[in-house]
Amino acid sequence: MARTPVNVTVTGAAGQIGYALLFRIASGQLLGADTPVKLRLLEIPQAVKAAEGTAMELADAAFPLLSGVDIFDDPVKAFEGANVALLVGARPRTAGMERGDLLEANGGIFKPQGAAINAGAADDIKVLVVGNPANTNALIAASHAPDVPTGRFTAMTRLDHNRALSQLGAKLGVGVADIKKLTIWGNHSATQYPDVFHAEVAGKSAADQVDEAWLADEFIPTVAKRGAAIIAARGASSAASAASAAIDHIYTWVNGTPEGDWTSMAIPSDGSYGVPAGLISSFPVVTKDGAYEIVQGLELNEFSRTRIDASVAELAEERDAVRALGLI
Ligand code: NAD
Ligand code: LMR
Repeated sequence: MARTPVNVTVTGAAGQIGYALLFRIASGQLLGADTPVKLRLLEIPQAVKAAEGTAMELADAAFPLLSGVDIFDDPVKAFEGANVALLVGARPRTAGMERGDLLEANGGIFKPQGAAINAGAADDIKVLVVGNPANTNALIAASHAPDVPTGRFTAMTRLDHNRALSQLGAKLGVGVADIKKLTIWGNHSATQYPDVFHAEVAGKSAADQVDEAWLADEFIPTVAKRGAAIIAARGASSAASAASAAIDHIYTWVNGTPEGDWTSMAIPSDGSYGVPAGLISSFPVVTKDGAYEIVQGLELNEFSRTRIDASVAELAEERDAVRALGLI
């Protein structure tokens, strides 16, 4: 018997990440080659027509696993029955906008979306926030969904994780598949900390093969500022790589991390590693059977501790700012 389609809601569906993401979801790369999907696209009214154009192209691609595409401009309808929600649409920072203005504008998006997920999503809902500032937007959405377990709200640091794999692989002359146990800690921002101290390259310590000056002066800034470098080069923020990382994040959450490896996800802290409980911060996680757990017991040296603390302090500042604005 054919499996029941999984409902996947994507916000910002007519944007550039949406355009790269939807075709990969429909082809089966989000959930697996045996899982049919139904897409529920959410856009603002002005962009619904563009989303309709993308839906025409999705039809034209004749994906066997795609069982339907519905388009909405109302979050309550878009999240009805959602099993997976990819929150991509967000308000970008424009000239003259202060940080508080940006947080407030995004509060106007993620508050009602959190409430809509609370009202109508399926019991097994898994939420990934991609739209920036992703960690704090996830915090806002989660705080308006009191009936959904908070742990179902996650934010994306998988792109940072993939960037770190690629940079380290290039430095050591190995493929990304040879690198295991790399971690992104903290915020999806320039303060994030890509940590190679527990990483292994073909079974050997990665940290032993690089020096601290390269980590501090090249590797960490390259990974942490890669988003800005892409914007400078492309004239637009990363899109296909961001979509690819979103696919990786959900695929890994649903299907599990490989034996002997872990991944990075921004998830609500339970207080592990001194990260204040409730902040949505990136950790090393293993996933199995649709659930995730923080990898425990890692020793953190001074180099790592200082950098994790700085990124977590930024997350606490963002939380305090949205609290002061009444958004959480
Ligand atoms: P984009 O501007 O091309 O598309 C955004 C889309 O969201 C637009 O079509 C817009 O109409 C829509 N939108 C705005 N408000 C909405 C709402 N309330 N409901 C539904 N849709 C809404 O932007 P993009 O390049 O696709 O990027 C989207 C977001 O992802 C940005 O915030 C960007 O900074 C962020 N991003 C995050 C990462 C990450 O690693 N976490 C990486 C790259 C980009
Ligand atoms: C990225 O990491 O590529 C993006 O978050 C950058 C941005 O500001 O949109």
